[in-house]
Amino acid sequence: MKIIIGNDHGGYRLKLKILEYLSENGYDDVVNIGCDSEDIVRYPYYAAKVAHAVTTGKADRGILICSTGLGMSILANRHKGARASLCTSTFMAKMTRGHNDSNILCLGGKITGEMEALDILETWLEKEFEGGRHNISLGLVREAEETLSTGDEWIPENPNL
Ligand code: RB5
Repeated sequence: MKIIIGNDHGGYRLKLKILEYLSENGYDDVVNIGCDSEDIVRYPYYAAKVAHAVTTGKADRGILICSTGLGMSILANRHKGARASLCTSTFMAKMTRGHNDSNILCLGGKITGEMEALDILETWLEKEFEGGRHNISLGLVREAEETLSTGDEWIPENPNL
């Protein structure tokens, strides 16, 4: 699995722990494009790099860390095909992989403690997408993405389908 990881100053410390976890757990195809200090930088730059790599197939999965995970998820989800998920619990990580086929994990370096973050990461990396009925929702997400990119309103035909 090719993983790309990015962070701003708020995510720098947690990024170090995540890199350590990945290398200790056999994830050896990891590209780190994040900043390497706590000097102030701008999160959109890193979010765009990671989301572009994932949505163009240059990486299988992306990890983004800022202070809250919020800014990273906002920017990443502007990329077509990005399914960036801000997770603050292992349950969220399990659900977003199982149901949303999440391809980018966003974490808040000032929100989530190290051990919890590593647990979230482990779940998010290992849990498979469940497919089946969840493909219907994902198809609708793709349809919405297409329509909204033209500036038109997207009106789902049948919410109960
Ligand atoms: C940086 O101060 C902070 O705004 C950023 O790390 C992130 O939390 C934005 O959403």
